[in-house]
Amino acid sequence: MLGLKLPTDPRWVNIVEKNIDEILIDHAYCELKAASTAISLTNSFPEYTELVQEMISLVKEEMSHFKLVHDKLIHKGIPLGRDRKDDYVIELLKFFPKGGSRTTQLVHRLLYAALIEARSCERFKLLSEQLPDPELAKFYRDLMVSEANHYTMFLNFARRYGDRQEVDTKWQDLLDYEASIMKSLSRDASMHG
Ligand SMILES: [Fe+2]
Ligand SMILES: [Fe+2]
Repeated sequence: MLGLKLPTDPRWVNIVEKNIDEILIDHAYCELKAASTAISLTNSFPEYTELVQEMISLVKEEMSHFKLVHDKLIHKGIPLGRDRKDDYVIELLKFFPKGGSRTTQLVHRLLYAALIEARSCERFKLLSEQLPDPELAKFYRDLMVSEANHYTMFLNFARRYGDRQEVDTKWQDLLDYEASIMKSLSRDASMHG
């Protein structure tokens, strides 16, 4: 599914179940960061008209997800709290070398976004299938459906704007690298940890 090379360790759901408050807070920030990535891509690459159009829609969609999670936090009486550092993202960023042409930078940022979307979607699916609380399971099922297209959208932009073959090779390498990161994670009460 989603091209990922290592499925999430099933034990991760057990950790999540016991720490649902922390997961919801972390998840809220994931949605906010997804919106912020879309704004940042627009700001950095305004000459890519089609990308800008898609990013405008994405900002709205991700902010609506943020609101859904935020509403859930309020409903459960959980304060949002501050964002925590994300080990997954820190490790993932190490894959991408600094510098390179403008197109290379764009491709890297699109592949990075594609991967985070793919892994989030995989985890939402897992939560929708395994959380014992039916309301929360449905909440993640609905989110999964609306997230499912994001990863292909980013990957397709990378393929269109970069060299198709180079992008495909890099994507496969990134998937291998991500699988190696995941081996040491899946132990944390966070959306990607
Ligand atoms: Fe989202
Ligand atoms: Fe998304």
